[in-house]
Amino acid sequence: HRHVDHATPETIAETIAAGDFHAVIPDYERLEAYRANGGYAALEELRQNGDWEAVQEKVLESGLRGLGGAGFPSGKKWGFVRANPGPRYLAVNGDEGEPGTFKDRYYLERVPHLMLEGMLIAAWAVEADKCFIYMRDEYPAVLHILAEEIAALEAAGIVAPGYIDLRRGAGAYICGEESSMIESIEGKRGLPRHRPPYVAQVGIFNRPTLVHNVETLHWVARVCREGPEVLNSTELNGRKGLRSYSVSGRVAKPGVYLLAAGSTIRDVIEAAGGMAEGHTLKAYQPGGPSSGLLPASMDDIPLDFDTLQPHGSFIGSAAVVVLSDKDSARAAALNMLRFFEDESCGQCTPCRSGCEKAVKLMQADTWDQPLLEELCQTMVDASICGLGQAAPNPILLTMKHFPEEV
Ligand code: NAI
Ligand code: SF4
Repeated sequence: HRHVDHATPETIAETIAAGDFHAVIPDYERLEAYRANGGYAALEELRQNGDWEAVQEKVLESGLRGLGGAGFPSGKKWGFVRANPGPRYLAVNGDEGEPGTFKDRYYLERVPHLMLEGMLIAAWAVEADKCFIYMRDEYPAVLHILAEEIAALEAAGIVAPGYIDLRRGAGAYICGEESSMIESIEGKRGLPRHRPPYVAQVGIFNRPTLVHNVETLHWVARVCREGPEVLNSTELNGRKGLRSYSVSGRVAKPGVYLLAAGSTIRDVIEAAGGMAEGHTLKAYQPGGPSSGLLPASMDDIPLDFDTLQPHGSFIGSAAVVVLSDKDSARAAALNMLRFFEDESCGQCTPCRSGCEKAVKLMQADTWDQPLLEELCQTMVDASICGLGQAAPNPILLTMKHFPEEV
């Protein structure tokens, strides 16, 4: 491992040029520094004389919603899990696989203890017997940081040895779907389960399990320390809260930008330094390939949970990819379907065969639109999990907004 102040494209390029293919470890905030800034005080206090329902109330008041992409009210989940008898578990979903999403990595490479403290607060709230962190293997620096900091937490007596179990993913997108992540944690092939029952009832080794995304827990710690206002005091375009947009594509400065949840694509592009030189906005992916592509004319919609649903899209994990006049919407949509074809777990026919057929149909000079529509409807209606249900979005939105290309 090579240590640098921050992992930037330049430091990564230098490392590779030097023939050193090991992870570049950024200079993150370690346990000692985090504690010196008041870290873990909230957890200590709660463990001594806290009331879990008061913390749940605070989290609900902040408006915090699941930041893996689904936006489920975070505090509510605690009640669902507690409603089932123990032993209970907690699992952190760190399998940040949605193309264009890199916010969890951004926070873990800088302030990992916010997620770790948030996790321990949530574990305390649901009386979890053990915490599993499922981290994607494509983030070697994060794995290194977490292993070091978990050991530091054990050495400081903040957690018992073995209480936090760090697990490595193995590169399967579907293992970010919570029930297949649980199958993977159990040592099995990652196939999504039918629901109900929800994992809050039947999770890891059939025990009630609280599953949260990395960034959700980061905010649990901040809400506990700074109060619900840290999120709910920001308001823009009628929306409350903050959103960490991962911005890439044809912008001047790709990166993670923490903005008001009511931001439009214009605000997001402006935060990212404007369009890259010589490029004009043509389309954007608001939240990963499953959210499809929206045209530049739809530039006044707040990019928040629920606001994109009437347009056949959603914000998901806020993975904003910007396309310009130099890009083809049709080629982008085909690329997205190729991704789903590769990543489908193959368990159910509508998704396994549907993605493959869609790719074939989308390679034709002219798309057979009635047939694609019929295929999309079948996938939406009959796929087991979100992958197959959302894979049609890029097809449907491209046919709707870029008919001249297909
Ligand atoms: P979902 O809305 O079905 O579930 C969200 C969460 O709420 C889950 O933890 C579920 O167990 C819980 N839940 C919902 N209803 C419940 C009930 N009645 N009782 C107890 N618990 C309940 O959404 P899903 O399929 O888990 O996630 C889809 C999202 O994941 C998409 O919006 C997509 O953007 C995002 N995604 C994110 C990725 C990333 O890398 N961050 C990768 C792929 C997808
Ligand atoms: Fe697997 Fe796709 Fe079916 Fe999901 S929808 S269970 S990824 S085959």
